[in-house]
Amino acid sequence: MFTGQTGMNGLNISNDTSLFEVPAVLDAGGKLTDQCAREAVDKIDTYGFVIFTDLLSHEEADAALDMVRQAADDPERNLCTFASETDNRYKRRDFCSLPSTPFLNSFAGTLCQRLEGVISEYCRPSHRLLEAVTLTSYLGSSHQYFHRDPPNVLSFFAAFEDVSEDQGGTVFVPGTHKYAGVEKRHGGLGLELMDLFMVWSNIHVFRHNFRKLWDMRKGRGASLAPGEFRDRVFSTKWDEYQPNILRFLTNRNTHLSLNTFGPRTLRDLYRHRAAIRDNFHIVRTAPRKGTVIVFRSDTIHAGPDNRSPNPRRLYGMSISRDIIDPEYLFDGYSPHPSLIAQPLTFGDLLNSPPLKVLPKAAEQLEQIPAE
Ligand SMILES: [Fe+2]
Repeated sequence: MFTGQTGMNGLNISNDTSLFEVPAVLDAGGKLTDQCAREAVDKIDTYGFVIFTDLLSHEEADAALDMVRQAADDPERNLCTFASETDNRYKRRDFCSLPSTPFLNSFAGTLCQRLEGVISEYCRPSHRLLEAVTLTSYLGSSHQYFHRDPPNVLSFFAAFEDVSEDQGGTVFVPGTHKYAGVEKRHGGLGLELMDLFMVWSNIHVFRHNFRKLWDMRKGRGASLAPGEFRDRVFSTKWDEYQPNILRFLTNRNTHLSLNTFGPRTLRDLYRHRAAIRDNFHIVRTAPRKGTVIVFRSDTIHAGPDNRSPNPRRLYGMSISRDIIDPEYLFDGYSPHPSLIAQPLTFGDLLNSPPLKVLPKAAEQLEQIPAE
C-alpha cells in the first residue's frame, strides 16, 4: 500500500513493512535459529535491510530505555558530530554517543550474540564497533535528506518503545545498496537512476522542511525559538540537514545544492522520470518495542522529522564490514571517547557477558520483603 505524506506530495511512501520483516526466533542457546538467520541474510542481500520483530523482550527494552534516558539527561553527554547541529542546538534532536559502561557492553554484546548468524555473514570478529548512540527527535525536527552512510558498515537501530508513523521511524529505499554489479540493474542504469531518485526525493525533503518552518513561523505547529528560522534557513554554519537557502545557493550542501541542477541532471530527471518512479519506492518503518533493524550503510535511507508531541528514541550501533584505514575509521560516525580509548570489536562483543534482566513478575517478587 502506498500513501502520501503530509508535505511530501509527489513521493510514494509505503507504510507496509511486512516484506522486510523477520520474526525473531531464538534457539536454546539464545541465538537466532539457522532458518531465521538465513531468511534475514536473504532480505539484507536483496533489499539492503531487515526488520527483526520481537528480538528484545519488553523487560530488556525497558532496561535499555532507562540507559538511553539517563544518557540524554546527562548535561555532559557527548553530542554526535554527524547529526544536524542546528537541530541539536534548538532541542529538535538529541543525538549523543553512549559511554562504554558494563550495561551498554552487555546490551551491545547481547544484540551481537543473538544476531551472530547474520552479522558474521558480513563482519569478521576483528572488525571494530564504530559507535553506539541514542537518537532522540522532537516535534519540529527537520527531515534528513536521503543519503548513504559511509560504505562497508553494518548498522543497527533498536526500538525500546513503540515508534508511531508520526514519530518518524527511519525510511529506507529497498534495493539501493551498492553491491558489485548493481550498476547492471535497470537496463544498465542502476547507479545513475539511484542518484537521480535521491535528487528527486531530496527536492521534496527540502520543500517539506521549508514549508514546515514557514508554518512554524506563522504560528502553526511547534513554536520557533528566537533566531531559529534564520539559523535553519540562512545560516553560514555547517549543517547538511536544513532547508538552508544560503548554503543551497553557495553549493555548501552535499545533499542538494544549486550545482546539483546542471542541464544534464535536469535532462536526465525528465528523461528517466518513469524509471525513477517505477523502480524505487520509499518504505517508512514504525518499529514496535523490541524491534531491531539491521541495514547495510550503503542503502539509501533518511531519518524523518518527528511530527508528534512525543519524543522518538532509538538506539543505534555500527560495526565495520571491512578493514578501514585508521584515518577514516570514524568518518561519519560518533564514537564516545571511552570507546576510542578502549576499542571494542565484533569478537569482543560476542564474548561480552550477556544482558541479564529479570522478568517483571520476578523482579517485583524480589522486591517484596521477606516476612
Ligand atoms: Fe544515515
